[in-house]
Amino acid sequence: MHFLKNRGFVHSHASEITPVAAYERRRDMLKLLATGAAGATLAAWAGRDALAQVARPNKLAALAGARSAVAGAVTMEKLTPYVDVTGYNNFYEFGTDKSDPAQNAHTLKTRPWTVTIEGEVKKPKVFDLDELLKLAPMEERIYRLRCVEGWSMVIPWVGYSLSELIKKVEPTGNAKYVEFVTLADPKTMPFVGSRVLEWPYVEGLRMDEAMHPLSLLSFGLYGEVLPNQSGAPVRMVLPWKYGFKSGKSIVKIRFVEKEPGTAWNKAAKNEYGFYSNVNPNVDHPRWSQATERRIGEDGLFAKKRPTLMFNGYEAQVGQLYAGMDLKKNY
Ligand code: MTE
Repeated sequence: MHFLKNRGFVHSHASEITPVAAYERRRDMLKLLATGAAGATLAAWAGRDALAQVARPNKLAALAGARSAVAGAVTMEKLTPYVDVTGYNNFYEFGTDKSDPAQNAHTLKTRPWTVTIEGEVKKPKVFDLDELLKLAPMEERIYRLRCVEGWSMVIPWVGYSLSELIKKVEPTGNAKYVEFVTLADPKTMPFVGSRVLEWPYVEGLRMDEAMHPLSLLSFGLYGEVLPNQSGAPVRMVLPWKYGFKSGKSIVKIRFVEKEPGTAWNKAAKNEYGFYSNVNPNVDHPRWSQATERRIGEDGLFAKKRPTLMFNGYEAQVGQLYAGMDLKKNY
């Protein structure tokens, strides 16, 4: 992250904007429903929504999810446009510029795909992607994502709680942490082998963090399967942690007794800790974490937003860290 040059956005094709429009109408509709003024508008809205979906060329496969009932899982903040969510990415296997993943990730082969579950579990298993897609009902979660670099987005993800998978494999009493290993294939990922990071990109969580209902195993966004640059076909999303904790294109989930090493911690120990909870009171050694720039809103005069403790999810996750010194455990 400290290598980034921040060269700005990829400008997109107008055709890609359609799903955003559809989502924005859906949100207007939700507001109407909330005020009780729905009625006939519902049918009209549903029709327009369907049309908009059909009208989009190069559409990815649909992956719908029912609105999540998990506490805190759906923020009503304005969504970041699809073009920004999928055009401004960190995925170093495909390059370090924000526009590199969108440009280069077409080489990633997302089928066949398996995720190996191993380590301290009673039922280790190699899941085929299709099995994983059917493992639990898909939900739509609208999460804020805050990157350690000082920008944020609001993204409608599709997936289910990681806990659904964890319950199926039955961790043993020795399972204290979960390690996520992501794909490192030099044939399809041009920057694997570069010395920016150690490959594969690995991440980890404490068991109670992994079991928290907000910890999302995600397969899609904006009602479609994940585009490659967003971590297809399966990635983690942890809304109260800096974005780098959310590993993309996961191939292995390992249950372990000791705190696993993580990609950014290995690269810069004093800058990126194991926990990496969003915390406006603990600055990065080289910059403040007090405010953030919301991607898609960053005109010349757009004001930065104050960053919230645990990215605004303190009510849901604060208890996990009760009694911990968050300055030490950064
Ligand atoms: N996962 C892998 N495998 N490789 C990466 O470089 N970058 C991380 C994280 N997951 C990264 C990764 C970082 S720094 C961030 S901010 C988020 O992915 C970005 O996710 P997004 O591009 O979907 O916003």
